[in-house]
Parts: sequence; structure tokens; C-alpha cells
Amino acid sequence: MSGWVKASAPGKVILVGEHFVVKGSRAIAASIGLRVRVRVRPLSSWPARITSKPLNAEARVGEDGALRGSWVFKQVPVILGELRRMGYSLDPFEAIIESDIPPAAGLGSSAATSAALTLALTALHGDPLSPDVLSRVTYEAEKVIHGKPSGIDNTIVSFGGGLVYRIGEEPRRVDVRLPKGTRLIVAHTGRGRVTGEIVARVLENAEALWPSASLLYEASDRLVDIVLDAMKRGDAALLGRAFNLAHGMVSALGASSIEIEVLVHKARMAGALGAKLTGAGGGGCVIALADESRLDKIIGELKLHSPWVRGVEVGVGGARVEDRKA
Ligand code: PMV
Repeated sequence: MSGWVKASAPGKVILVGEHFVVKGSRAIAASIGLRVRVRVRPLSSWPARITSKPLNAEARVGEDGALRGSWVFKQVPVILGELRRMGYSLDPFEAIIESDIPPAAGLGSSAATSAALTLALTALHGDPLSPDVLSRVTYEAEKVIHGKPSGIDNTIVSFGGGLVYRIGEEPRRVDVRLPKGTRLIVAHTGRGRVTGEIVARVLENAEALWPSASLLYEASDRLVDIVLDAMKRGDAALLGRAFNLAHGMVSALGASSIEIEVLVHKARMAGALGAKLTGAGGGGCVIALADESRLDKIIGELKLHSPWVRGVEVGVGGARVEDRKA
């Protein structure tokens, strides 16, 4: 085999329940129509070569798994080790990564990269992984990058669609269709964040205010049912209201920032049905639900305050092998 094999995987947003999920409430995550694409082709000898165009980084990986070059590829030896353990006799390869997803923004770019690379490599060897095995390998890769991942990102990028997640339970796959005539806007604050720091801040606030704060955890958990119901019934106004309530609750516990507040309020003032931070907060991204008739106005307004704004599809397909020649 001499041609390129290409695979892709989507990014994700958390629609509701971030932070509250850390102490046992449910969260809903959804795939979004922004993808990481990885193409691989065989090389005649080791080391393997990997290039990330979005990160402008390169590395070599020896047959023994030794990584030389950028640390951003530190999950790659783990992926190769997992595949070998599963019986893949990996040949040397070249991999090129391209992405629509901004890195380190809470949109699942690292999980999507790991999933797309893993799927491309296994497809190159003629036996692409099923979503459940791909999710497990991606989880191992995420551990190297994030320490203690919740399991949301690897699941959603592998399966696509939507899922309801509660710590300690099997993720439940759900339909995440936006109400007819609406779109989801994702806007980046332009500010990075360290997820662990924001999680610690929120937990500290919640614990200091317990048991009063426990009612927010209960409220957020119940909001999951309202969001699922709003999507099922196509009730855009209710879904927008639910986003606003979710934002108010995580903000009250310290997950927001001035950059996030500016985007959330600008989106609402331009006519969004609802807007909230998504993921850890601090920096990263906000999401806004917009009626299509208001989409351009809201995107235009957000662009005045954000370096990166996109209208995205929600609930798209998970990791997949693309055409055999790229
Ligand atoms: O920003 P992200 O996608 O890493 O999301 C973090 C979500 C939290 O609920 C804040 C933490 C977690 O592990 O679930």
C-alpha cells in the first residue's frame, strides 16, 4: 500500500453541566461540525514522522516509541503502544494533521486528533477500529495530555452525536438536534485557561457555600432534562433560557471571566436566544443559540470582541475513515 489514508474526528461542546459534573451531576456533550483530519502513509523505514499544521510542530517516533521533537505529540507513543498491545504490527508511517478546531479551547481538539490519528493508522493496516475501542485508546491518549480526563471527549469524538454523562456511569448516547431554524455559534475568548485551576476554584467556592451550593448542583442536573426535552420538542426559546441559567450557575461559582462575560452579553444583546460558557471557563469558548435570521448580526457583533467565531452544526458523525487518497 503506498497511498495516503485519511481519517477525521469532530470537536465537541458541553451544552450544559460542566463543573457540576465533577461532583456527580449530569452533563450533556455534543459533537460539532469542526473536524481534525489526519492523513497517514507508509514509510520504508523508522522513525515515523508526524507534522501538525495547526500547531506548526513536528516530531519523529522511533520503532521503540521514543519521541524526538515537539512535546505536543506526547500521546503518540501511548497510541502506538496500545495498538501494538492489540496485535497491530505497526509499520513506519508519516502522519500529517490538519484541523478546524482551535487548540486548548475546550473544544476537544486533542481527543479529536488522537482519535483521527488512531483511526487512520488502523485503517492503513486494513483494520479500522470500532468506535468503542477507538474511544478506549483515545482515553489512554487523553490521560497523557490532561492527567485525569472525565471521559467525555474521547467518547464524543469517537461516536459523534450527543451524550449524557455522569461520573461512574456508562455515557448514554442521546439525540442532540437543535430546534429548527436555529444555529449554534461558538466564539473563542482568545484567552487560554488551565482546566485544573478553574475546576479547583469552582470546587472551593462550592464547598465553602455548602449546603446552599448543593442546590445549584441539583438544579444543573435537572436542567439536563429540560435541555433534552427542549431539543426533542424543538423549543428554541426554552433551550436558550436553559443556556442562560446554566451560565448563571457556573458563573456564580467562579468559572467565568471578563472575556467570557463580554461575549455572553454581546451575543444576548445582538439577539441570541441564550449564551453560556462551554467547558472549563476562565477563557476558552462561549456558545450562543441563534435564530438563523439573527445569525449574521450576532456573528458580526461577536467578531468585534473575539478572534475566532463560527456557526457550527451539532450532533455530527464521529470519527470516520475518509477517502483512501488525500
Ligand atoms: O474545557 P474542557 O472541555 O476541558 O471541559 C472541562 C469540563 C469540566 O466539567 C470543567 C471538567 C471535567 O472534567 O468535566
